[in-house]
Formats: sequence, C-alpha cells, structure tokens
Amino acid sequence: MADVEISEREEQLPVSTIGELIKIAEEKEGIVSLGPGEPDFGSPKNIIDFACRKLKEGFTHYSPPGGRSELKEAVAKKLRRDNKIRVSPDQVIITCGSTEAILLNLICTIDPGEGVLIPDPGFLAYKPAVEILNGMPLCIPHQEKDGFQFKIEEAESAIVPEKTKVMIINTPSNPTGVVFKKKTLEEIADFACEYDLCVISDEAYEKLIYDGEKHVSIGSLNGMEERVLTLQSFSKTYAMPGFRVGYAAGPEEAINAMKKVHIYSSICAPTVSQLAALEALGGSQACVKKMVKEYDRRRKLIIKRLNEIPGFSCVKPKGAFYAFPNIERFGMKSLKFSRWLIEKAGVATVPGTEFGRRGEGHIRCSYATSYEKIGIALDRIEKTTKKLKLGR
Ligand SMILES: Cc1ncc(COP(=O)(O)O)c(C=O)c1O
Repeated sequence: MADVEISEREEQLPVSTIGELIKIAEEKEGIVSLGPGEPDFGSPKNIIDFACRKLKEGFTHYSPPGGRSELKEAVAKKLRRDNKIRVSPDQVIITCGSTEAILLNLICTIDPGEGVLIPDPGFLAYKPAVEILNGMPLCIPHQEKDGFQFKIEEAESAIVPEKTKVMIINTPSNPTGVVFKKKTLEEIADFACEYDLCVISDEAYEKLIYDGEKHVSIGSLNGMEERVLTLQSFSKTYAMPGFRVGYAAGPEEAINAMKKVHIYSSICAPTVSQLAALEALGGSQACVKKMVKEYDRRRKLIIKRLNEIPGFSCVKPKGAFYAFPNIERFGMKSLKFSRWLIEKAGVATVPGTEFGRRGEGHIRCSYATSYEKIGIALDRIEKTTKKLKLGR
C-alpha cells in the first residue's frame, strides 16, 4: 500500500476516458486519430525563431506574476482592436494557457457551495474546476434540436438564484463548434445582470471561424465591462499549445486577485512563451489565415462525409475544429461506440459523454488532422458501420 493517502477531493474527480482511448490508439498500430484537441500544424517559424533567439539571449528567468508588461500592452491593444473590449494593460493577466485562467478565475470568484453555470456539452475542464473548489456545477443543456445553440430558458431552469455567482460561456464552442450570435450574447448579458453573475467568457477558438460568421466578445457589450472576464489563448490561433500561454482580461479588482493567486500556483507563465506570444501578436497574421483556410476545407469534407454515411447526422459547426455527430441510430452508447470504432475501424474519436451528460448519443471528431487522414478515417468508418443494423 502506498504511504501517500490521496485526498477525497481528488478521488471524486471524474476519470477522463480520453486517456484510456489515447493509450489504446498508441498501442494499436495503424490507428487514425480524430481525437486531437490541438492543432496538427507546427508553430509558425517566426515564433519559434524568436523564442530560440530570446532563450539564447538569456530570457530564462521569472516574469512578473501578472505577465511581462510589453505583452500585456500588446494584449490590451489586440482586445481593443479585434474584440472591441476596452481594457488597460493592468486589466490583463498572462496565464499558463487559458486552462490555468479558468481555475484562477474560479478561485477568485466562488466560495464553497456556490453555483457556477456551465455548458453541457461543454469543454471538459469546467466541471472538475468547479468541483475542485467545492463549488456547485449547474449544467445548462445545449440541445441538438436547437442546433446546440444557447437557450436562455435552459439557463433560467438551471440557475439556483442567490447561490449562483458565475456563468461560464464558450464561443466558438468545444465540442459542438457552435458560434454564439450577438443577440444570444445580449440575452446572456441581460440574464447575468438580472442575477448579478460574473461571466467567464472562454474564447480560445475566437479566430477559428467559418462561413462568414463573426466572433463577438460578450465583454464588448454595453455595461458588461464590470462583470466579464474574457479568456483567450495562443494555443489554437497560433498553433502553440505546448508554449502554455494565454490570458484573462476584465475588471482590475478581479485581475489583481488572480495575480495574487498566480504567485502560489505557477508564479508566472513561462517567460520564453510570453515572448513567443508577443511575436505571435506582433508578427504577420498570414499563418492564422492559412490555417483557418485549411481547417475550413477539412470541415467541409468531414461534415459532408459524415452526413453521407447512414446512421450519422451532424449539425454543421461554424467554429473551432470539431464535428459532433449524432450516433444514436447505431444503438450503442457513445463510450461503447468510440471503443468499437477504435477496435473495428482503427479510428479514434472522443465519446460525447466526456463533455457532459448531454453529450450522450454523440462522438467528437476533430479535424485538426490532415485532409488525407480524415478521408482515410471516414472510408474506414463507412466500411465498418455498414455491418451494423440501424435503429430509426
Ligand atoms: C474551450 C477550450 N477552452 C480552453 C482550452 C484550453 O486551452 P489552453 O489551456 O491551451 O489555452 C481548450 C483546449 O482544448 C478548449 O477547448
């Protein structure tokens, strides 16, 4: 028996099945993976070169906990220009990816027992982050019949008034690819004011958007500057997830509270990554355009192919890099179906239940993998699922 006794808090955290599926995918030869939640592209050359140069110049020390001042200035400028969010550099904190920002935000906004509204299906880090802090996750169902759009009636049903402090929204969304309309965000803003909520707006995929859709930041809406924390990241936009750098922007008091906690969690985001992020924001944006164009080409392929295979039906995603098809007609729960696809078709996907109870009946297929591999994966899926009897 180990001498280290694991805390109850940790033991109660859900075990992600992604780990299990990745392990099978690694051990079995010839698997094609539609699992990744990160860009398959390498980081742009100018960013890598800049980071290498800075390391050689000796930038290997800590940064201030809130982040390097030149990067905070560049982020504030970007937020004003691209997102119409008016913040000063003092209202920005640089974090180790937006994942750390989610946790820091929650540490600074909820006390044990307080409620946090989260999307279901939604990014898998939200619920555990609330649970680690002994908060109360309150799931807002995003239903397929509504195209997975946010419905204010669902939020009204989920909220526990007086006890709920925070609402997390995510547009473009992982895993559904839904992009919130401005009108929806205005409804959310009214709702947040009515119930006096802080809104954490996760915009990690803000630049990965298609079909002429526009990303709108809720922090740019009238009267929201005092209650919105905007989270953005370099991981997806610039294909630099391993650099671990992102940021949060919002009311100075909340940002200062996050900086205080940051000293105890990681001290600062990696200095070299912050410099790489500075180059990402200041350098040519052609790399972003090029990647988005290629994601769009793959998106069209994967949606067309999925909808052509009997048994699948897929809402067309407008953002991020995921398709989230319905698989109910195959008569298997989503975890069983994902395991079956790896086993029989040699294709890795993520079961919809990884993203919440409402993800049941779906699998997530990432198109952050090459066009050719997507073609091979869909050929295999088509051939293998032919053998299954379909329900209605
Ligand atoms: C919706 C969403 N938010 C945040 C993240 C975290 O990204 P990072 O910590 O790399 O910035 C992810 C990663 O997959 C995500 O899907």
